[in-house]
Amino acid sequence: MTKLSNITECITNELNTFEERLNKCLHAEKYLLKDMIDYCFAKKGKRIRPILTFLVANMFGKPSESTFRAAMVLEFIHTASLIHDDVLDESGMRRGRQSINNIWGNNNAILFGDYLYGKCMEFIKTEKDFSLMPIYARIGVSLPKGELLQKNLTEQGSTTEKNYFEVIYNKTASLLEAACETGFLTANEKDTDNNNLKNFDMLNQIKEMGKNLGLAFQIKDDMLDFYLENASEKSIGNDIREKKITLPMIYFLQNTNEQHKNDVLNFINSDEKRDEGILHLIKCVRESNSLKQSQRQVEFFSGKACDIIRRCPDNVYKDALLSLAGFLINRGI
Ligand code: IPE
Ligand code: MG
Repeated sequence: MTKLSNITECITNELNTFEERLNKCLHAEKYLLKDMIDYCFAKKGKRIRPILTFLVANMFGKPSESTFRAAMVLEFIHTASLIHDDVLDESGMRRGRQSINNIWGNNNAILFGDYLYGKCMEFIKTEKDFSLMPIYARIGVSLPKGELLQKNLTEQGSTTEKNYFEVIYNKTASLLEAACETGFLTANEKDTDNNNLKNFDMLNQIKEMGKNLGLAFQIKDDMLDFYLENASEKSIGNDIREKKITLPMIYFLQNTNEQHKNDVLNFINSDEKRDEGILHLIKCVRESNSLKQSQRQVEFFSGKACDIIRRCPDNVYKDALLSLAGFLINRGI
């Protein structure tokens, strides 16, 4: 399996510059805020969103200053959403370490997330940056909308495949979509530099590609909750513990009889769940066909993304995007 760092070799310079700027724009803070910033940014995420932005920008031209600022905005929004998500889920761990809320409490974590959302606006400097505002507005709405719907469905105690896809589009895929879209729109400093390749139809295809990669990515992420091998980064069965019904569970419930389905739902929705019970349910799901069914969906969405990538201009960035799609569907298991 190809490592992410091999896939992104062709954008090493962009990613290094990105990291430098990220650290620089946060270095002046003091007191508690400084402690939270240092802790939060000491452990990097996979940087999937900036990777997408830089690959797409390179595929259609040259990343511009606006490309860097857009990548920053999206990574800050992503980071803030994870910090708030951990508060909502009362989650004590993130990226294999204690979460911000676990160390500094919910109130500080919420304010720190708000700080990062606010910080984004400092990256809207030029007319080009400003033209991306409708995209930021869209994800500003879709991320909380996805979380709210997810919370709503959890409280309701069951979900459908249709609802599940609505949740994951809003909470995850919309951001990967935006990462690809901003990469495309900011490629080349001047719009006149390009741009026989950059047209409206291509923009829509690029958005569609990002969205499909995002859907595949989230389904895969939800599948990983059923695998022990993943235990170092995230503990197994977290979604069940939090009463979240994800795609593998939806398929599992679809393929079982009414009585068993009710028993399983009652178990998932009960407040006191013992680890043995959770592990037993995971074993049943693994022995069923539902993880294979989920993997087929991952391949379906990733396949749709790859069909679009194949129609893009031939260059190393296109090859990297195809490898990235492969990485997202095969990671973990
Ligand atoms: C985590 O996203 C939340 C999901 C959308 C699955 P990532 O897996 O991209 O998070 P980091 O930035 O790499 O930690
Ligand atoms: Mg969550």
